[in-house]
Amino acid sequence: MISLTVFEQVTPMALFPYYVQESSQAAKRLEDIDEDARTEPSFTPYDGDSPPSIQFDRVSFSFPDFPRPVLESVSFAIAPGSHTAIIGASGSGKSTIASLLLKLQPVDDQPIYLNNTQLDHIDEQDVWQSTNVSLQSNQFFVGSVNENLAMGNDRATAAEMTDALASVELDHLNLSDALHENAANLSGGEKQRLALARLFLRDASLWVLDEPTSSLDALTEQRMLDQVFSRTEDATVVLISHRLTGLEQMDQIIVVDHGQIIEAGSYDDLIAQNGYLKQMKDLESELFAG
Ligand SMILES: Nc1ncnc2c1ncn2[C@@H]1O[C@H](COP(=O)(O)OP(=O)(O)OP(=O)(O)O)[C@@H](O)[C@H]1O
Ligand SMILES: [Mg+2]
Repeated sequence: MISLTVFEQVTPMALFPYYVQESSQAAKRLEDIDEDARTEPSFTPYDGDSPPSIQFDRVSFSFPDFPRPVLESVSFAIAPGSHTAIIGASGSGKSTIASLLLKLQPVDDQPIYLNNTQLDHIDEQDVWQSTNVSLQSNQFFVGSVNENLAMGNDRATAAEMTDALASVELDHLNLSDALHENAANLSGGEKQRLALARLFLRDASLWVLDEPTSSLDALTEQRMLDQVFSRTEDATVVLISHRLTGLEQMDQIIVVDHGQIIEAGSYDDLIAQNGYLKQMKDLESELFAG
């Protein structure tokens, strides 16, 4: 009896090593899944309430299928809550800088940082939620002025919308007026001012404006920029322009030429350096004088 009982107990023990191996493999798989689940959305939280700092640290870029470099080792730093203008000739790479910053151009592992965190580790949705962006082509859809303004902030009241229209000198528009596809029934400058009104309805800690006033005459442009500046005192602002209006009000001016930064500093510094900005200013005053 004893020997039989012992034999009964020993037989299943022969399977023990097999069970151990299988169980430990399963445990390892579970551990991996758990680890993935914890690290997968490896996004660093982005605080949209505070104005961010921005840093480009030797960023080079070319468009896929276009080998010519559009940006070559571009480096600059923007302090939180400061106002920066990026200026330079047409095609120099200004809009490309903005689209990389906003992750509108999908790229991996670029040395671009918001609040000292590389963009790859930030969820772009978090950034967009707290950023006011105006691109060179502003998007409007068929509908009323009211509906198009509500795209910026669907909780804005009619009074706030009317105020925003007045601040961009579009008092002659009614909220119920119809807009055609891409606001084709407005002039180029009116479209730009309507796009600004839409931004004015929305709070943002980062503003990226790509030539928001390029279709306006110089005087209207200055008034519109004053409106922008009065609404963005505490925000980080990147204003792209190839004109020279309003530059005195900026904390930093970055001059881009053929994908490279050729000058950067305050307005007074750059004028004293007697480089691109000074030449452009001199040219401008000659044109106005002539
Ligand atoms: N999607 C694209 N594919 C290929 N090349 C592009 C693309 N977009 C822009 N480029 C090229 O990249 C360069 C920089 O363009 P970018 O739009 O950044 O210039 P910009 O300084 O904003 O000019 P502008 O003042 O005319 O708006 C240009 O030579 C342009 O031809
Ligand atoms: Mg551009």
